[in-house]
Amino acid sequence: MSNNSRQPIEKKELFGVHFNIRDQQKFNQALQLLRESTGGLPMFSADNLITWNRNISFLREDYFYQILAGSESTDVEKSCIWRLYILLYFAEHCQSVAGDYVELGCHKGTTAKRVTEKIDFENKGKKYWLYDLFEWKEGDEHTHMPGHDNPKMYEDVVERFSDQPWVNIIPGPVPDSLLQGFPKTIAFAHIDMNHPAPEEAALKKVLPNLSPGGCIIFDDYGWWGYSAQKRILDPIAAGMNLKILELPTGQGLLIKNS
Ligand SMILES: C[S@@+](CC[C@H](N)C(=O)[O-])C[C@H]1O[C@@H](n2cnc3c(N)ncnc32)[C@H](O)[C@@H]1O
Repeated sequence: MSNNSRQPIEKKELFGVHFNIRDQQKFNQALQLLRESTGGLPMFSADNLITWNRNISFLREDYFYQILAGSESTDVEKSCIWRLYILLYFAEHCQSVAGDYVELGCHKGTTAKRVTEKIDFENKGKKYWLYDLFEWKEGDEHTHMPGHDNPKMYEDVVERFSDQPWVNIIPGPVPDSLLQGFPKTIAFAHIDMNHPAPEEAALKKVLPNLSPGGCIIFDDYGWWGYSAQKRILDPIAAGMNLKILELPTGQGLLIKNS
């Protein structure tokens, strides 16, 4: 082994947006003290995840580098890059698993579009099913998001995937909308509705159809502010002798035993 192989690889860092901060000034001071106290070790600080002295492998991949360097993604989307890295890792892993892909709560189709950049749906003979309400009205229980302010939200998502006929976009409330179409066999599911009732219903529908070796990523599972979801989802998984793994990104991961 040459001496060179013992040298650390190039330092990579990322500083992005955090959520749920009440006093930004104090937070910035704390971050500065953390940086000084860790003596220049590489740091990742974004999406309520602060860590240091890590390789941060995805920052070394051209695909993720281009997302961060480009102007297509918002600062919030860029800050959630570690979540995207995990989601795409498992989405790619499930390519050899029987069945289709689903996203329950696709919003503007931002993450779904990234999945279509990685998965060769056409050649794999798989379909990608996207579900969303595509609207928010005064009094609705689900979280209002900027995309809901677009009166053509649904039409724009349809347009976004118009050159990808293997993508099925189904508007309406989960679980009722699943009656319009839902795959009998699922390889990979992304559940991201920020709302416990439809997430409960979604998991009950997805789990029996999930192939052995298939995966589910829950975007909100580890977030304390959404802990009502954890309370509801854990017993459903346990009912099938499964356990959801909480990831440091706030996501949850469930792998169905082969
Ligand atoms: C956080 S956003 C999803 C973001 C998206 N997964 C992404 O990564 O680009 C949550 C979405 O869930 C949708 N949603 C909430 N409750 C729903 C329900 N019962 N049925 C369908 N969609 C729902 C909302 O309309 C919203 O667009």
